[in-house]
Amino acid sequence: MEKDDLTSTAKPSLGQRFSQSKFIVWCRTHKLIAIPIAVMIALLPLLGLLALRNRHHANAQWTSPIVYPSPEAYHVGNWTAALDKARIMVANMTFEEMNNVTIGISDPSTGCVGVSGGVPRLGFPGFCLQDAGQGVRDTDGVNAYASGVSVGASWNATMAYERAQFLGAEFKRKGVNVALGPVVGPIGRIATDGRTWEGFGADPYLNGILAANTITGLQESVIASVKHFVANEQETNRNPIASTNTASTSANLDDSTMHELYLWPFQDAVAAGVGCVMCSYNRINGTYACENSKTQNGLLKGELNFQGFIVSDWVAQHSGIPSADGGLDMAMPTSSFWDQNQLAKAAGGELNKTRLIDMATRIVSTWYHFGQDSPDFPAMGIGMAPDITLPHEYVDAKDPASRSSLLQQAIEGHVLVKNVNNALPLQNPRTISIFGYDAAPYAIVNPTPAFSILWTQNWQGLNYSQDNVVQIASNQPVTNAPDVYHGTLIVGGGSGSNVPAYLSSPLEAITSRAYDNGTAIWSDTSSTNPAVVRSSDTCLVFINAFASEVWDRPGLTNADSDALVMNVASKCNDTIVVIHNAGIRIVDAWIEHPNVTAVLFAHLPGQDAGRAVAQILYGDVSPSGRLPYTVAHNESDYGDLLGPCLADNSTSPQCDFSEGVNIDYRSFLARNVTPRYEFGYGLTYSSFEYTNLQVNVNCTSTDQAATGAAPVYANGTTQNGNDPSIIVGGPAALFESVGGITASIANTGSVNASEVAQLYLLIPNGNVTSSNSSIVNTRTLRGFQKVLIAPNETAQIEFPLRRKDVSRWDVVKQTWVVPAGEFEVRVGKSVLDTPLVGSFTL
Ligand code: BGC
Repeated sequence: MEKDDLTSTAKPSLGQRFSQSKFIVWCRTHKLIAIPIAVMIALLPLLGLLALRNRHHANAQWTSPIVYPSPEAYHVGNWTAALDKARIMVANMTFEEMNNVTIGISDPSTGCVGVSGGVPRLGFPGFCLQDAGQGVRDTDGVNAYASGVSVGASWNATMAYERAQFLGAEFKRKGVNVALGPVVGPIGRIATDGRTWEGFGADPYLNGILAANTITGLQESVIASVKHFVANEQETNRNPIASTNTASTSANLDDSTMHELYLWPFQDAVAAGVGCVMCSYNRINGTYACENSKTQNGLLKGELNFQGFIVSDWVAQHSGIPSADGGLDMAMPTSSFWDQNQLAKAAGGELNKTRLIDMATRIVSTWYHFGQDSPDFPAMGIGMAPDITLPHEYVDAKDPASRSSLLQQAIEGHVLVKNVNNALPLQNPRTISIFGYDAAPYAIVNPTPAFSILWTQNWQGLNYSQDNVVQIASNQPVTNAPDVYHGTLIVGGGSGSNVPAYLSSPLEAITSRAYDNGTAIWSDTSSTNPAVVRSSDTCLVFINAFASEVWDRPGLTNADSDALVMNVASKCNDTIVVIHNAGIRIVDAWIEHPNVTAVLFAHLPGQDAGRAVAQILYGDVSPSGRLPYTVAHNESDYGDLLGPCLADNSTSPQCDFSEGVNIDYRSFLARNVTPRYEFGYGLTYSSFEYTNLQVNVNCTSTDQAATGAAPVYANGTTQNGNDPSIIVGGPAALFESVGGITASIANTGSVNASEVAQLYLLIPNGNVTSSNSSIVNTRTLRGFQKVLIAPNETAQIEFPLRRKDVSRWDVVKQTWVVPAGEFEVRVGKSVLDTPLVGSFTL
């Protein structure tokens, strides 16, 4: 079939987009495929019932507990004023109006991916919700920012904040109320996951800090929606398959793994004041995320004391009253379970009416809390034309002041992993040869054909099969998924993608340098075995590793790309490889080749990709990124965490997170496997020396306390409202300072460069009772600081520690405790290169 046939004019969920308008035209001409798909879609609502039935069929060891009632919003933190206003407004609503506030509605007048119901009579317009974390999606007049993985690779918390300030302001100018990001789940449990590039790397601490700063920046303008809650670690079987009555994968995990790994960054997000949380597609311990009362009522609204509202991922709602009881506040993009006033009719009967009131109150209070009742807030969806190929008002959301930040983000996400023979920076090359399909943009950077799904998902530059189309449309696992993009890859695929205001490609940026420097440029961006002009001083090879929402990557290498590198290296003794990678890319096929002199993981830099790499290649700036994940020698080195759990013909696919907290680098440490490039690794054009480790931790162990030092919400017995020690984010004590660790770093090289100092702690188990105590205890990231140091200068760095950072979750006490015992302290350049080692004992 022709790719161009898959077009759509409206923009609800990915699955829905396949079912709408122009897709119908395609269906008419492809009846053999279309009819089964139509039947599957028609059966979707039945799956909700099936899921409920199956809940009791899940592995008995992993049954998600019931936690009722759903905690109500109350006066805490800075929510008081907004909550009071919301209570007044909601008190004037009928149950039908409250019901309407909780659902997504179809509104063809905007291009917002979701529009929620309003109550015009009372002045509440509802929300425009729009993706995503790397830029405003599916529209014009916006920038393409560096993706989450690039921000993770930058290890720069200040930059994360500034990036989000500009990004948030764009959402606001477009009339978007809720920006559907950032992503902290998936966090990167499996190496081939399709969406880890949307988040900040495979570590909870790194995600927590960068997400908190991103949320603070975004929420200066709009409401952020951190996602996907929770344990959403694979795309394969993420949604039910109607044709086989197969439910979504169940992520089965124990209590301490939940707290210490998957919930961790969400806690930092809530503490940062996030207004919205999106529940995920997967099941957790047997129960769908968007009706899981343990995770939503117990953890999020209870323990973390979240005061905003929970929105479902698109079509992730699988039940009516149970999802409301389970804590869901808003169903997107529409709801067959709630759209006939089912909540209003049940209120006071099957559904406690306080629940419906609280749902509407949380939504309206978030609107007030973020000042969206102000007349200055742009009209809903004002800049979000449903189809930008039709006449519409052009709302230019770009702020000229964002330009330097965009370039900086793009630069700081580059990680230099190999550099021999002074290959980089380039020394006035007379002739450069540029190779690889990634060096130049894909031929179409345009919504062609009109608002095609290929464009809205950044799938235009892919070659995928008709099988893939059918699999995607029916939620089947995608086999032989495309894994390279035939153009400069600046963002991954799916709802996290966005379209740049312009695209600076490597070929264009380096050619423009050639104009200034008199360099001769040869290029071939299509051959796998290009001829090499032997007078080339340097050969640059640009390849990529694509990843997208909807499917997990078929692997971590690509044979054609590896052949291209080898072919060039065999003819050019200064071959420099740049990889735009949406996730881990294994390089062992050629990394030891003596002619491969330098390698950059360029990640997903956004629209300034070319300009950024040129600055690094020419030495205007030293590379300063560090890997936010582990690059192994071989795929098999990832063990059970290489790929997704498969359904294996089960209608209730299970995925046991039996590794506990030991994912990515902790898995490599626990299994004693040496990676090719470890977590935190990256080179610069300079060198650094670490000295003077000082440990100033001021904290006592809470390990011996008979009861939990930090009360939590459990089974409706504790309302947080009665407990002054609980703040938004959880127990206040967790966020208090317990001192810190300092060190000195000297730049011993000859150029300005940024070092990323990292702190790893080995936290003892003490007497803490952990349900996964058989898991090998490894060190874990608990601090990082990026610092620009001039040659011969020394910088003092400090890693502040919160009580949270030295705590473990005690499953018996159901609280965080600071364990007794010796804490090993390591400070250095990566998880494996820590020149400073010390300890403290509590
Ligand atoms: C994705 C979400 C996204 C939503 C709306 C879903 O398919 O999982 O991340 O926000 O669509 O586009």
